[in-house]
Amino acid sequence: MNRAWTLEELAAWCVKQVYAERSDALQALGEAWGWLQSRDLITWNPDQIKEVLGMLVRGVYIPERSRPASHDAWPYTIPCVAKLVNEGLQFSSPITFLVGENGSGKSTIIEALAEAFKFDDRGGRNLGQYANNRPKSTLGSTIQLDLTSKGAAVLRGPRSKRRGFFLRAETAMGLLETKSGTHGYWEEDLAQASHGEGFLTVFATMFQEPLLYLMDEPEAALSFTSCLRLVGLMHQLGQTGAQVICATHSPILASTPGADIIEVGEHGSRRAEWKELELVDHWRRYMENPSFYLRHITE
Ligand SMILES: Nc1ncnc2c1ncn2[C@@H]1O[C@H](COP(=O)(O)OP(=O)(O)OP(=O)(O)O)[C@@H](O)[C@H]1O
Ligand SMILES: [Mg+2]
Repeated sequence: MNRAWTLEELAAWCVKQVYAERSDALQALGEAWGWLQSRDLITWNPDQIKEVLGMLVRGVYIPERSRPASHDAWPYTIPCVAKLVNEGLQFSSPITFLVGENGSGKSTIIEALAEAFKFDDRGGRNLGQYANNRPKSTLGSTIQLDLTSKGAAVLRGPRSKRRGFFLRAETAMGLLETKSGTHGYWEEDLAQASHGEGFLTVFATMFQEPLLYLMDEPEAALSFTSCLRLVGLMHQLGQTGAQVICATHSPILASTPGADIIEVGEHGSRRAEWKELELVDHWRRYMENPSFYLRHITE
């Protein structure tokens, strides 16, 4: 191709190289960059490069023809799902956190995304051999993904190479117990590891490629210090071309630099700054004065 490449073409080429196992994404990018530069075919700003490598899913939406006639039945009774039906949900950063109270719909959205991106819905990587016959969920089979060309290339690519990672909250322990030593997973026998140590090993091993990572409360087993380590791992993932969408109750995870935060609740969903989150506000006030909360609980 002897003309200037679009950014999307560059991203799709890099994904192809990764699939062909000719190089990792950054090496592929370096090669493409050198080739284009030597022919004076770069027309865009080098600063745009992270964006090219970073995003796979720009958002989700429900086409008009598939929208439910009423919002009387689950999952459309959940305010953030009802809002998603009407307005879709956009992702604008390589790392997005969904935060909100128990039952506010975070897992419903993460699991629907996992299904739409064709992950095994028990969690893990989306390698074909673990596909199962679970019926599709209402939301997962209705939402459409707005993919970047990199995301489309990943989803169209060979199933055996279509990697990324889905941590399903309800099956996380089972995944950790059954996948040790399995091809494409971690080598370590985690039987001797503590709960938190085991999960940190899993994350450090799985967070390698510039693909899609859907995480549901990955902090569940982690101490304060281990949460900070997970922030480091996620931040690095975001910097090296992956996209992370993560449901969390952890103010530490939600503070990952550069992350976009979507707060879900009775109001539906809204973007929020970390310091303005209800989650952060509750923790801050609790740490300052636990008795303010406890007197309502214990009196
Ligand atoms: N299969 C189902 N049928 C009907 N209602 C369901 C089903 N699965 C979940 N719900 C309800 O949907 C709502 C949202 O659940 P969801 O698991 O998405 O919440 P969440 O934000 O992930 O909560 P948590 O923080 O406790 O994990 C809850 O009220 C839950 O009871
Ligand atoms: Mg949940």
